[in-house]
Amino acid sequence: MLTEKDFIATSYNSIESASFEWSAPSNIALVKYWGKKENQIPANPSISFTLNNCKTITKLDVVKKLENNSFSFDLLFEGKPKEDFKPKIQKFFERIEKYCPFLKDYHFKIDTQNTFPHSSGIASSASGMAALAMNIMSLEKTINPAISDDYFYSKASFLARLGSGSACRSIKGEVVVWGNHVQINGSSDLFGVEFSEIHSNFKNYQDTILLVDKGEKQVSSTVGHDLMHNHPYAERRFAQAHENLSQIKAILSSGNVAEFIKIVESEALTLHAMMMTSMPYFILMKPNTLEIINKIWKFRNGTQIPVCFTLDAGANVHVLYPESVKENVLQFIQDELVGYCQNGQYICDEIGNGAKSN
Ligand code: PMV
Repeated sequence: MLTEKDFIATSYNSIESASFEWSAPSNIALVKYWGKKENQIPANPSISFTLNNCKTITKLDVVKKLENNSFSFDLLFEGKPKEDFKPKIQKFFERIEKYCPFLKDYHFKIDTQNTFPHSSGIASSASGMAALAMNIMSLEKTINPAISDDYFYSKASFLARLGSGSACRSIKGEVVVWGNHVQINGSSDLFGVEFSEIHSNFKNYQDTILLVDKGEKQVSSTVGHDLMHNHPYAERRFAQAHENLSQIKAILSSGNVAEFIKIVESEALTLHAMMMTSMPYFILMKPNTLEIINKIWKFRNGTQIPVCFTLDAGANVHVLYPESVKENVLQFIQDELVGYCQNGQYICDEIGNGAKSN
């Protein structure tokens, strides 16, 4: 079992220059992470589907520099310098320096882009931090070729977590668990682990993301997680996440889609209930979010087609369904849900299997 100390790089050599490129996907949690302790340790375990199409693609150019007393990097977003992203990267480097002490030896050019429209309300921090962490691990592997594949991916997830918690679930695997859970072998608060006992009913599971509100997030996730400190229902919620993870583990293995729907929708509404009952309190759903939820329930009751929804910390709706009912559900979305999306926009995605080297 890897511990925090195992992630401190101690022996490595030096290179003059190198270039790497990785893409990493976004992910959608089924059992939600909401609330954290010091150092990005989650207050409860979570599990997510890795997505396939919503990705960040990041190229990292590395050049050795003469002095090594500060971090040095240029940041390009969609080919243009992006100064307002720099503080986030600077903070990320500061957090991971202990584990990657070679970072100050190099100047970096970070060239990044997303496959999904920016300001779509889809968080790019998970895919963005995961893609950057993969590139940094490629650098580490170049200066220390002895590291194993297993260590490479675990440390990439560990580093991504320090950038943005849920990013640690965007590295490897179709379904990923992050956080200690008694029933998941090898699970850790430090990094995500692949959950592989998946029934074929969940193969190529679909996620159509309905863009209800593309505006800036009303509450940053940092502020949101903080609101779980001193929250009146926090302890019960954290215990419930453990229970729901036990249940969903069994459901994913047995292929029981009806039970899957119950846990997933309850988790989405619980996440929002936590925000509505914090101090200060927030409502992140919009009227159209509720319209969509009601339409999904009506359609499901009327047709018995197993389609359900989940939400992240915003108004957009993720519509989840088996590949076998794709045609019916896309028709339903076209006929009944598109009208609730901003400019009629939605994104078709499905389960994918993690970061890729380009
Ligand atoms: O990774 P963060 O700090 O942006 O938190 C993500 C929180 C949720 O998306 C709401 C839930 C989750 O588990 O992804």
